[in-house]
Amino acid sequence: MMTIVWATLTVNGNYARADAAHPPRKEALEDFARWAKRAGNFVVGRHTFEAFQAEPNRKVDDAGQAFAETEIVVVSASRAELRGATRAAAPAEALAHLERRGHGIALVAGGERLINAFLAEGLVDELVFNIVPVLESEGLRLVLPRDHYEELELLEATDLGGGVGQRRYGLKRRRA
Ligand SMILES: NC(=O)c1ccc[n+]([C@@H]2O[C@H](COP(=O)([O-])OP(=O)(O)OC[C@H]3O[C@@H](n4cnc5c(N)ncnc54)[C@H](OP(=O)(O)O)[C@@H]3O)[C@@H](O)[C@H]2O)c1
Repeated sequence: MMTIVWATLTVNGNYARADAAHPPRKEALEDFARWAKRAGNFVVGRHTFEAFQAEPNRKVDDAGQAFAETEIVVVSASRAELRGATRAAAPAEALAHLERRGHGIALVAGGERLINAFLAEGLVDELVFNIVPVLESEGLRLVLPRDHYEELELLEATDLGGGVGQRRYGLKRRRA
């Protein structure tokens, strides 16, 4: 199974923050719906899941359908159960669950802490970064652990419209 991280970044390299005052770009949301449909799942941290649940429009995909056919896995160490999702205690457990369920792709969709945990554990095969035309002040960062460094291979560069550019990169996976 392949693990793909999907993320929206600002032009100055932050992991874009999404809130009521700064909602995600339509082009990025539509792209996320396409990737979720392709994968048949997404994996999120508990904070991102709670934000997703609180936003009714986020439950609708590009065809106007709810994410009813999409398997949602929430990584949480503190909760035993999360309504509307499968709970995993750690990133590797989320991947093992999706692999058992026969998925070919695990789509890791945020937030900051969860993606950084997947990167630190060497569990990521590809990154899909959507660069939105905004600048933020100091913000969220997707980073490797201190003193780690990885060269990436650019696999695809596309324009999603509205000034949003997508770059898809391959990583060398460190674990078997
Ligand atoms: N730019 C984008 O594409 C994008 C997408 C989504 C979200 N975001 C932004 O990301 C921010 C939220 O990120 P966040 O870091 O606060 O939240 P998060 O990663 O969604 O959730 C953090 C929680 O997930 C669980 N978790 C994460 N890593 C874990 C691990 N390795 N093992 C066990 N549990 C783990 C923990 O839950 P428990 O506390 O229950 O143990 C942790 O408190 C928001 O500002 C949001 O707007 C941006």
